[in-house]
Amino acid sequence: MTYQGKWALVTGASAGLGATFAKSLAAKGANLVLTARRVDRLEALARELEGKHRISVKTIAADLAKPSAPADIAAVLHTSDIEIDILINNAGYGLPGGYTESDWTAHRDFLEVMVTSYAQLTRAFLPGMLKRGFGRIIQVSSVAGLVPGSAGHTMYGASKAFLVSFAQSLAAECDGKGVNVSALCPGFTYSEFHDANDTRGLVSQLPKYMFMQAEPVIEGALDAVERGHVVYVPGAWNKFTVWLMKALPRPWAAAMVKKQSQKFRQRNG
Ligand SMILES: NC(=O)c1ccc[n+]([C@@H]2O[C@H](COP(=O)([O-])OP(=O)(O)OC[C@H]3O[C@@H](n4cnc5c(N)ncnc54)[C@H](OP(=O)(O)O)[C@@H]3O)[C@@H](O)[C@H]2O)c1
Repeated sequence: MTYQGKWALVTGASAGLGATFAKSLAAKGANLVLTARRVDRLEALARELEGKHRISVKTIAADLAKPSAPADIAAVLHTSDIEIDILINNAGYGLPGGYTESDWTAHRDFLEVMVTSYAQLTRAFLPGMLKRGFGRIIQVSSVAGLVPGSAGHTMYGASKAFLVSFAQSLAAECDGKGVNVSALCPGFTYSEFHDANDTRGLVSQLPKYMFMQAEPVIEGALDAVERGHVVYVPGAWNKFTVWLMKALPRPWAAAMVKKQSQKFRQRNG
């Protein structure tokens, strides 16, 4: 697949899956708009990709916890005459601990980044895609969005379940209009995610087979959206986990997740 001449917007492009999306899309010929808070990292990635591929890259510093951020991004792109053909809603993080261990401000920011920004950026760029008859949208969800909720990281699974359902509805609405929408549902993937929320020590005790490198996750996701695959789970272990959780009676699956997540939290102290 070539995306020569198309423009892709990647949120959370300063690290992990977002930076890997940027590299892969650049290799496929797409021009890029990269956004995150750490603009120095975005600039370094932009220079690298412009030097390596014959593409244009624009960077936008934005904190998606701010309710004005998605509209600000859309306004900058409108002023620059850039029309987004590929939207990768990816920015995210985890808020460890039980629900009452974080104050409401932290939860409100979390919902802005993990839910509202995804919905608002999609609302901003989908009409143009439909008008032009071409669009690709990936909502970066998680295996956590497909299995029962866990103890701790209370709204993480809920936010990711929203994205699965959101992608399914959008895909149904866009069917036959040239716009493909997918939810990417990775399991543990090597990135800065667990450093950012200080759980690296804990997750490094998990068996290696539970982890994937970012590159195959992203290549699989881009292939899935091209094929019109709406919910994409990368990797054999993650596929097995999702299959098992769906095959088991719901109360059994919920009890299993509850027990494992409580054990995990106890080990965390
Ligand atoms: N890694 C995993 O195991 C895993 C598994 C399933 C799903 N996911 C999902 O994959 C996505 C990417 O995570 P990752 O693993 O690549 O983590 P990561 O390496 O920590 O990258 C997270 C990205 O999100 C950006 N971000 C965080 N808060 C932001 C904010 N308030 N405003 C704007 N940007 C913000 C960060 O940029 P700045 O800090 O520069 O703003 C960074 O670029 C997330 O949605 C995550 O939930 C990850």
